Amino acid sequence: MSNDVLLRANELRTHFELRKYGFLKAGEVRAVDGVSFTIRRGEAVAIVGESGCGKSTLARTILGLYEPTGGSIVFDDEDISSFDRAKIAWYRRRVGYVQQDPYAALPPFMDVRRLLLEPLIVNGIRNRAEQQERIVRSMHEIKLTPPESFLEKFPHQLSGGQQQRVVIARAKILDPQLIVADEPVSMLDASVRVEVLQLLRQLQIDHGLALLYITHDLSTVRYFCERAFVMYGAHIVEQAPVDQLLSAPQHPYTRALVAAIPDPDAANATRFRSVPHGEPPSLANPPSGCRFHPRCPHTIEGLCRDHEPPYFTTAPDRRVACWLYGESS
Ligand SMILES: Nc1ncnc2c1ncn2[C@@H]1O[C@H](COP(=O)(O)OP(=O)(O)OP(=O)(O)O)[C@@H](O)[C@H]1O
Ligand SMILES: [Mg+2]
Repeated sequence: MSNDVLLRANELRTHFELRKYGFLKAGEVRAVDGVSFTIRRGEAVAIVGESGCGKSTLARTILGLYEPTGGSIVFDDEDISSFDRAKIAWYRRRVGYVQQDPYAALPPFMDVRRLLLEPLIVNGIRNRAEQQERIVRSMHEIKLTPPESFLEKFPHQLSGGQQQRVVIARAKILDPQLIVADEPVSMLDASVRVEVLQLLRQLQIDHGLALLYITHDLSTVRYFCERAFVMYGAHIVEQAPVDQLLSAPQHPYTRALVAAIPDPDAANATRFRSVPHGEPPSLANPPSGCRFHPRCPHTIEGLCRDHEPPYFTTAPDRRVACWLYGESS
């Protein structure tokens, strides 16, 4: 594996069994179904897709919280998909998790000092001076200063934005190599979203962290990520550098997402085009062929309905799973 690659997901699958009366197997939801990508050291990448396409399941699989049904995850040359206990502990220390709802992520009975101390203790950092040093450094990193004004506060005494900063500090305090942030600002007031995203971006740059930023909001990706992966129906349908994705989207689904970004300069900034027409696919019974074909304005007769498109490389670092980019078209 080339040394600038930090994480490689290869044909990852996470399926959930559906049961009837609690025990009869009644099918399965294929929430992640053949996902491959790499994250390079120090790089910020985004996963973008609409609700229910499998983003959080992918995040939790990458974090080692769900055991994949198939495929592999290689991190820093270690295969962690074997789910060996010691390896998972090693891995969890190197990957931080920022989830959507900060209040749910923070045990309500712990004050900020305790919230930051907990991951240190769990990971065997017992030296008092080191604990104190890391806690104070973290408070400065997340800009909750002076630290003494915040360390005794409980989550309910903090604003949503401050709570999410504490969640970020907990994810960062062990100096991970990767932070997975799943919709980190979607539950916050619009007024603090940008500053929390900027804080994450600053930490990522200052400390050379890799960041996997998961969102349904393509408009935020431009400022925070180098590359983006577009997810549709448990698959990645397009991967590209962010500037190219936004200026020249290729997959018809990506084109619809980009067209729906409101233009902040336009007089009619609040007018959205619907994104895109039709219903998202069922992950228990996905469409045949290309999963996007029932909603696609460019369906090719005899091809898209029956044959799943492979990835076509359209430029360096760009891949698209769409027959429009096949050799025969
Ligand atoms: N633990 C689970 N058991 C069974 N089905 C699940 C489980 N978690 C998720 N699913 C299903 O998997 C699919 C993908 O869900 P997931 O939460 O990964 O999507 P998402 O892209 O994160 O959506 P959102 O944008 O709403 O957060 C959905 O159909 C969901 O109902
Ligand atoms: Mg989700």
